[in-house]
Amino acid sequence: MNICVISASMRGNSQSLKVANYLNERLKKLDVNSWVLDLHELKLPPYDDDETEAPAKDEVLKQLSEADGYVFVSPEWDGMMSHGLISMLHYVDTEMAHKPVMLVGVSSGIGGAYPIEQMKQMGPKNKHYVISPESLRLMKVKEMLNDQDFSETATDLYVKQRADYALKVLVEYAKALQNVRASGVFNPDEFGSGV
Ligand SMILES: Cc1cc2nc3c(=O)[nH]c(=O)nc-3n(C[C@H](O)[C@H](O)[C@H](O)COP(=O)(O)O)c2cc1C
Repeated sequence: MNICVISASMRGNSQSLKVANYLNERLKKLDVNSWVLDLHELKLPPYDDDETEAPAKDEVLKQLSEADGYVFVSPEWDGMMSHGLISMLHYVDTEMAHKPVMLVGVSSGIGGAYPIEQMKQMGPKNKHYVISPESLRLMKVKEMLNDQDFSETATDLYVKQRADYALKVLVEYAKALQNVRASGVFNPDEFGSGV
């Protein structure tokens, strides 16, 4: 079972990357082969239909192909989901089709809901991936997920438990959707655009 955790902040030393690294560690505790794809580090150019060379493109598509599921960790910037994530999705063909995605919205304040709702809209139709119903909204993120303390005194204990729960659900969706892909029913040549 392979899960790719995408850190979708476009700035260095981001809270989204901190969260992605935390979730990656928790996935490893579930015996999942997981890794972090950091969109800031990747430097994938904004998609322009191949006018600009994008050396990172092959690597990102390889990693997306190898994964059985994904976590999208998007910051809320100006009330919006990550523009880098939207751009990355333009590069995708069928690599993510019929695989599950867990959504995480990140805010240093009391936001985080907008990126979750926007990520539900942007991508699944034509990229054919499946959104897990168990998302994670991280408000006041600087106070969250800074350690692996699961004691009763940990102030973010509920968030940590909720994160573990959402990851476990994601892994079960990833197992179940392998059957959908193996069935051969997916027909992107005829029905490439969803409705
Ligand atoms: C350009 C910019 C716009 C932002 N706009 C919002 C916003 O609309 N709502 C919000 O809750 N936080 C906003 N923030 C703060 C982020 O929530 C904060 O930076 C948080 O750490 C997540 O972003 P990061 O993963 O890049 O660190 C903004 C940050 C930046 C850099």
